[in-house]
Amino acid sequence: MRERTLVLLKPDCVQRRLVGQMISRFENKGFNIVAMKLLRISPDLARQHYAEHVSKPFYPGLERFITGGPVVALIVEGPEAIRVVREMLGATSGLQSAPGTIRGDFSCSRQMNLVHASDGPAAAAREIALYFDDGEIQADELTLRPWLLAADE
Ligand code: CMP
Repeated sequence: MRERTLVLLKPDCVQRRLVGQMISRFENKGFNIVAMKLLRISPDLARQHYAEHVSKPFYPGLERFITGGPVVALIVEGPEAIRVVREMLGATSGLQSAPGTIRGDFSCSRQMNLVHASDGPAAAAREIALYFDDGEIQADELTLRPWLLAADE
């Protein structure tokens, strides 16, 4: 089933010049990038994005971090993309994520964990709408698709 998920390359990812490598991981997997922008998250947007964490003790530090520099927001599309992208990221903490995952390979921190991805279909729909208008999403079929997936996949 083709799905769309919201991916954020966080301020630590941009500062460490890892944006290209992160985008390459999703492209190499065969997923499509159907929207992308560089932006600075405002405190208001941070509270909406992390609504489930706003009341947690670590939230003030999380907000300072996520608003502290530019991020890249992407919509990644592909078969079972919501689950698969989460698995590509690895566990939240870079100290617990498996080698081969993004965080396992590039992070040794719980907060400086480089990349966010939606954790389920409801979150994906909500988060995509926070960052993108419908008109900013490119729905064109890429010509390589027949070499990435069988016709019935
Ligand atoms: P992310 O996947 O973007 O979703 C919520 C973020 O909160 C998470 O990555 C971590 O960066 C951060 N986070 C989660 N748990 C903690 C914690 N216990 N202390 C500090 N930051 C946390």
